[in-house]
Parts: sequence; structure tokens; C-alpha cells
Amino acid sequence: MPEHTNRTAVVTGATSGLGLEAAAQLADAGYASVIITARTEGKAEAALAKLRAGRTADVFQALTVDLDDLASVASAADVLAARDGQIDVLLLNAGIAPTNRVRKTADGIEATTAATLTGHHVLTMRLLEAGLLSDRARIIIAGSEAARGDFPMFKPIDIDNLAAEDFDGDLETAIEALMRMQAPIKYHPNNQYATVKMFAVWWAAELAKKLPRGMTVNVVSPGSTPATNGARNAPFLMRWVIVPIVKLIPGMSHTVSDGAGRYLQATKFGPERTGQFLASKPKKGTGPLHTIEMEHFDNPAAQQALWNVTTKITGGVGYPA
Ligand SMILES: NC(=O)c1ccc[n+]([C@@H]2O[C@H](COP(=O)([O-])OP(=O)(O)OC[C@H]3O[C@@H](n4cnc5c(N)ncnc54)[C@H](OP(=O)(O)O)[C@@H]3O)[C@@H](O)[C@H]2O)c1
Repeated sequence: MPEHTNRTAVVTGATSGLGLEAAAQLADAGYASVIITARTEGKAEAALAKLRAGRTADVFQALTVDLDDLASVASAADVLAARDGQIDVLLLNAGIAPTNRVRKTADGIEATTAATLTGHHVLTMRLLEAGLLSDRARIIIAGSEAARGDFPMFKPIDIDNLAAEDFDGDLETAIEALMRMQAPIKYHPNNQYATVKMFAVWWAAELAKKLPRGMTVNVVSPGSTPATNGARNAPFLMRWVIVPIVKLIPGMSHTVSDGAGRYLQATKFGPERTGQFLASKPKKGTGPLHTIEMEHFDNPAAQQALWNVTTKITGGVGYPA
């Protein structure tokens, strides 16, 4: 029997890959309402059609959100506020793989940062401020093994070194330069991705300190899941050489169902598990979820600085206000 009747989940970036599959798994787990987000009406309709096919009960609704556009995020939060009932699971899944060239939003935020962090920050803060998350809400943001720094070709920035060398020791200025990809930072697609996923870990650690008791926030990596749409913007080598090789080597990747299953697992964590980063065990990209504890994640000054910068560059949207 499904366990979660009457519960509502919101899944961002559910037009393909892990988000689409997670929405399906939430419905199959008995969620009474699964609200997916898509960047356009057309993508929303296509995703809804896939989700509804073969299912008798229709629990799906769609919301148009472009996380690159903070006004669009605020409008989506207003739409959610206008409906009855609270949200039990907020799955902040949307994200993009490293892109060949730097791309920035109209607000001057680097695209990987916008899709993973700043858009999700605004959405989460608005929902919290409006009291739309239930007392035991589970907030889950997509992480990546790349943030660990032990995965080939991906290195998150050493923020203390960067700040000391180029920003007179000022963590906030260093973080903002990374988020806006400003000189003297040099763009390296994979390292920017790893850095932004490390930012997600700091963000969750800081938000966990602020949430009311009972509500949790965790970062969950879906693990190495090459059969999504994720590599479509990736540099040539990643898309046409690395990803196909990863698909072929046993143990180097798992299915989209396995990847999304990790999110589902995290929806069932108790209230004591919050502010954590869960991913494959060190040096692995698949297998059971482990709590990752590494020195570069446990950096309270960086967590606070990241929070302050995220709040500042999203126009002062923080929590509590
Ligand atoms: N696949 C993996 O091996 C892997 C490993 C670790 C972590 N992850 C993480 O898992 C998450 C899902 O990735 P995936 O592999 O399933 O990729 P995917 O198939 O490309 O799905 C990404 C989803 O995010 C949406 N999205 C991207 N940027 C957005 C924006 N600015 N505003 C709104 N929606 C946006 C996409 O919408 P559009 O269709 O409109 O672009 C799509 O629905 C990402 O956060 C990724 O970093 C993936």
C-alpha cells in the first residue's frame, strides 16, 4: 500500500531525467498531489503527458518556472500560495551540467549557480515566508559527488585559499565573484559545477540552522546517472567521450530509477537528519547513500558567507526575514 496519501510534493526540473522519474516515483508512493515545474508550457504539457500515461489516478499538476529569472520564481511561489494545503516535500532537483562557455542570467548570475542555487533559494524562502511548508516538510536539493573533490576531472574551489590570495581574505567577495564569474576567476566548467554543488551543501547546512524543528533540509546526490538529458550542454569531451565510457563500465553508473530512488529515500529521513550531504561513498559514483563528512563542507564561516551572498544577490530574500 502507498504510504503517503494526502501528501503534496513539488519537484523542480521535472521535464526529463531524474526530476521526471522522481515525480513518477512520488505518485507511485501514494502522494496525493505532485506538482512539477518546467520552464515552458510546452515542456510542462509534454512531461504531464508522460507522467499520466499508464496511471489511472492523475495526481500531477505543472507550474512554469525559469530559475534563471527570479521574477518567474516569485510568481510561481505566488501560484503555490493561492492553492489549498501545504507542501510536504520540496525537491529542488533542477540543475544543469557544466556548460562549455560561461552563460549568465539577466541578473548577471552564472547559469550553473542560477539553476542550482539562487532560483531554488528564492523559491524556498518564499514558500517558508508564506507558511506553505508543512511542519515536517522535507527539503531536498540535488547535490553531486563532484563536490567531494575526489572524483576525476572535478575540483571544487578552495574558498579559503581563493579569498586569501585574491580577495584580501574576504569570503563573501570571493563567493560573489564565483557566482557572477567575475575576474580574476577563470571559468572551468567542471570545477564551477563542483563548486556550485559544494555551495548547495553550505546552503543546506546554513538553512538547517534556521528551519523550525521538525522540518529538514538535506543535499542528496542522485549519483552517476548518464541516461538523463543532463549532458546535452556539456563540453564535447564530456558528452561524447566520458559519458559513453561511464555508461559501459560496470559500477560506474546506475539507472534513472536508482538515481531518483535516492531522493525518495531521503523523503523518509527522520527529523534528526538535517543539514547533511548524502552521496555515494568516497571515490564512488553509485551504491548506497552515505553521509559525506569532509573538511571543505564543514566550514561554518563559508556557510554563513554563502548564505549572506545568496540573500544579497537575490534581492534580500532571506529567512527568517
Ligand atoms: N545525471 C547525473 O549523473 C547527475 C549526477 C549528480 C547530480 N545530478 C543532478 O541531478 C539534477 C537533475 O539532472 P538530470 O541529470 O536529470 O538532468 P536533466 O535531464 O537535464 O534534467 C534537468 C532538469 O532541470 C531543468 N532546469 C535546468 N535549468 C533550469 C532553469 N534555469 N530553470 C528551470 N529548470 C531548469 C531542466 O529543464 P529544461 O528541460 O528546460 O532544461 C530539466 O527539467 C541536476 O541538479 C544535476 O546536477 C545529476
